[in-house]
Amino acid sequence: MSRTKYRSVVVLTGAGVSAESGIATFRDKGGLWENFDIEEYATAEALQRNPVKVLSFYNDRRKDLLNPSIQPNEAHDALAQLEREFDGNFLLVTQNIDNLHERAGNDNVIHMHGELSKYRCMASGHVFDVEGEITHEDICACCSEPGRLRPHVVFFGEMPFEMERIQLALHRCDLFISIGTSGTVYPAADFVRIARHSGAHTVELNLEPSEVQSLFHEQQYGPATEIIPHYVQRVL
Ligand code: OAD
Repeated sequence: MSRTKYRSVVVLTGAGVSAESGIATFRDKGGLWENFDIEEYATAEALQRNPVKVLSFYNDRRKDLLNPSIQPNEAHDALAQLEREFDGNFLLVTQNIDNLHERAGNDNVIHMHGELSKYRCMASGHVFDVEGEITHEDICACCSEPGRLRPHVVFFGEMPFEMERIQLALHRCDLFISIGTSGTVYPAADFVRIARHSGAHTVELNLEPSEVQSLFHEQQYGPATEIIPHYVQRVL
């Protein structure tokens, strides 16, 4: 049972929380978008133009995630402890499409940019779990047609998932913690503004100052596996 003064916490995570688990971030040196052009891999137009290329990009990332060496790290574990022991409202909003938060034990998670372990029928919107590969020839289980399956991830230009629920939580929270995100992708980069405007204490925990660092009341910089467990103990 926690004895914190806070009643409602929203945590936002980005690629930095999974970096020490061995998953590359997007914009750091050697990051994913340095080697793969967003226009060729992460838009609906790219999928339409070259489905084989886009589907295989996400198949490879799913395969990487299934590698036994990729495990939740101390930062994921600390956030699971926060959800378990915090006695107010807790919501974890992640931009990550990996499943490391769930594997660490978090339940109340919104994957605003989707999930690598799911795919979706473009005709019906039906979402399925997937472990192996998806190809352009695969027959959709709901409409029995080939060429209709796409990764259940948010491409650039598309609206993130569950924005209404996220906005509501941001308006209600009294503590907002942003972890491991560069603050370059909207609408997530705007969450600090909404939370702060609603009266929440806002904290940035990152390797380095993000693009929106000046909007936070409090900042701590360092590797997630070091600063997150420490900060969680403070909150609890
Ligand atoms: P970025 O790659 O833009 O930023 C990662 C952030 O994590 C940077 O600010 C790093 O300083 C920080 N970082 C790196 N290693 C860290 C560590 N060990 N501990 C703590 N922080 C660390 O990733 P995101 O901000 O998550 O969207 O990117 C946001 C979105 O852009 C992604 O969800 C993805 C991407 O394009 C879509 O694909 C829709």
